[in-house]
Amino acid sequence: MINQINYIKSKKAIDGGPVKVLVIGASTGFGLASRITSAFGSDASTVGVYFEKPPAPGKPASAGWYNTAAFEKQAHEAGLYAKSINGDAFSDEIKEKTIALIKKDLGQVDLVIYSLASPRRNHPKTGVAHNSVIKPIGEVFTNKTVDFHTGVVSEISINPATDEEIANTVEVMGGEDWGMWIDEMKAANILANGVVTVAYSYIGPALTEKVYRKGTIGRAKDHLEATAFEISDKLKDIDGKALISVNKALVTQASSAIPVIPLYISLLYKVMKEEGIHEGCIEQIQRLFEQRLYTDTTIPVDEKGRIRIDDLEMRPDVQAKVQALWAEADTDSLASIGDLAGYRSDFMNLFGFEVPEVTYGTDVNEMVEVSGLV
Ligand code: NAI
Ligand code: NA
Repeated sequence: MINQINYIKSKKAIDGGPVKVLVIGASTGFGLASRITSAFGSDASTVGVYFEKPPAPGKPASAGWYNTAAFEKQAHEAGLYAKSINGDAFSDEIKEKTIALIKKDLGQVDLVIYSLASPRRNHPKTGVAHNSVIKPIGEVFTNKTVDFHTGVVSEISINPATDEEIANTVEVMGGEDWGMWIDEMKAANILANGVVTVAYSYIGPALTEKVYRKGTIGRAKDHLEATAFEISDKLKDIDGKALISVNKALVTQASSAIPVIPLYISLLYKVMKEEGIHEGCIEQIQRLFEQRLYTDTTIPVDEKGRIRIDDLEMRPDVQAKVQALWAEADTDSLASIGDLAGYRSDFMNLFGFEVPEVTYGTDVNEMVEVSGLV
């Protein structure tokens, strides 16, 4: 957290950057990095929505809760507005609460980051609980995977999803909820003229295609990406636009739950670190803001209208090296040909371990006080 803030402070301010920002999915991963970049790279006021367990007697809170408390403390010390709402972003109630807070405190926002990753969504209109699955479509997918806790590489076979599972995954991770947020915010007149909203997507290599981009989660990403065009149409009258940013594969709570991906990431990290082009969430989002979203020129996009900050991951030389390592990867070789240590340390950091600035045994009540949670 502090490392991420310091990284942004070490960069020059983002010229013409955002002023008032809502981040949906703000407590970890790319969403947290987006909030930090907005606040410390552009002096923006930020509202963050997230879903984390607060501390209970004898029980620590979940990591994203502490991230948010620490972020707010730093932001407030820097004189920046920062408030957060902890609750289910898919619900009508949390949308209403967030809109009321923005209306009261900020008036309007000029940037809305949509960075939710969730295995489940309770649909606010139908009441149906949808669960997402990570499965291939059409045929069984068999490939290598690693249990990154033990380092054991094995073969995994995943049965194809049913039509119902595909539909449910699109309900959870597709674009409907993003569209609802923007519709409701627009109706409440809290979107500034020229507003930009960005959601995060992933493509990845042929190696993971059958389980990711051409699987259930890929269908949801297709839907999310199509939703960007629908939202842009609806924002035309206020000169607004919706964008997709395709980000790099990184260790987050979301990605570590996907089979095959951790093995890919451990090989990718090795190659990218050797090339000196490795980035984490904060480097990715800093580059997104400085070199894509807030420049003097038009935003560069691919043939499908998407911003690409996965450009370094997808470089042909990088992918050729990863593919060659993939062929060799087994339990014995992985420790030397892959960056399992880097994977594990990033994974531990997600939960607040191995982070030098945290003093364990910090008084939880003090954290509650500084957090200013709404
Ligand atoms: P993450 O697990 O680190 O963050 C998810 C965030 O969503 C957290 O702040 C969490 O509190 C919040 N959240 C989850 N359910 C919620 C709910 N019901 N209500 C309110 N907040 C809720 O995930 P990550 O990896 O940062 O993912 C964010 C987006 O980036 C996702 O769309 C993901 O597909 C995309 N992405 C991730 C990549 C990766 O390798 N990790 C690569 C490219 C894109
Ligand atoms: Na996030």
